[in-house]
Amino acid sequence: MAAQRFLSRLGLFPFRFHNTCNKLHLQLRTCSLAGFSSGAGASQGPHQSNRSYDFDSGAISEMRKAYKGTTEIFDVGDLVSKDPFKQFLAWFEEASQVDSIREANAMSLATSTKDGIPSVRMVLMKGIDETGIYFYTNFQSQKAKELEENPNCSIMFYWEALNRSVRVNGVAERISEEESTKYFHSRPKASQIGACVSLQSQVISSRKVLDDRNEELTKKYSSDDTPVPKPDYWGGFKVIPSRFEFWQGQTNRLHDRIVFRKLQPNEEINSETTAEGSNGWFYERLMP
Ligand SMILES: Cc1cc2nc3c(=O)[nH]c(=O)nc-3n(C[C@H](O)[C@H](O)[C@H](O)COP(=O)(O)O)c2cc1C
Repeated sequence: MAAQRFLSRLGLFPFRFHNTCNKLHLQLRTCSLAGFSSGAGASQGPHQSNRSYDFDSGAISEMRKAYKGTTEIFDVGDLVSKDPFKQFLAWFEEASQVDSIREANAMSLATSTKDGIPSVRMVLMKGIDETGIYFYTNFQSQKAKELEENPNCSIMFYWEALNRSVRVNGVAERISEEESTKYFHSRPKASQIGACVSLQSQVISSRKVLDDRNEELTKKYSSDDTPVPKPDYWGGFKVIPSRFEFWQGQTNRLHDRIVFRKLQPNEEINSETTAEGSNGWFYERLMP
């Protein structure tokens, strides 16, 4: 399991391995590493929270933050691997050690109807392996319905304290019922009940509907001997990437952008701009 070996080499401990289907499931650590220094970004002061933002005050257009120094340029020589999954794991590991990044696995997920009407929302990455990025949701939600009719999607991780983002483009597919069930039962019981309570993205009359149903199911499954059955409408998706973009912000706005992508059929590369990476990936630099 290459990802697992890779993490072990890095000496990582924040992840819990459910050793099924070669997949690495993530459980973020709750404590920080002693003596860890997170670099220039994390040492900056608090946000401009004492400012007020009116429609026409100009305060928003004046928001400007120093990023990295020019000595901290992110170049191809700084890649830890020419395989974007491994590069991603290295950045993810750094982000998960920064105290101010509470959920390094939070990612925005953009989907679109088959007619091209987009929607974006946050979800949590719950696993990654050499083939894709995993998240869990309700299959009757808007996102899931859109992914069923149009599997093309885009993911964005943004780690502000490190001035970094990663964009992943790919296609989503449902994981097996068996894998979803296994993950479902690894969650805290209250979360399992929450998944049963919520018919995600459907309209309801009031909050009380949720609270009443939650109370009812919490009583029903109060005994440790009564497992919560996974609802048929709940489970996981895997996003299979065709493109990763690693973005590192620079103060002078000459940001670094390194893209890994698969070639189009019969595409010929320009060797001055594009190089061959590992495992069928090619990489190149984009202007900021
Ligand atoms: C940080 C964060 C993490 C979230 N994680 C998930 C998740 O893993 N799965 C999920 O279905 N919804 C998650 N949500 C809620 C979604 O953003 C969204 O409200 C919900 O899934 C309904 O989206 P939809 O109507 O577009 O399908 C999360 C929200 C936030 C802010």
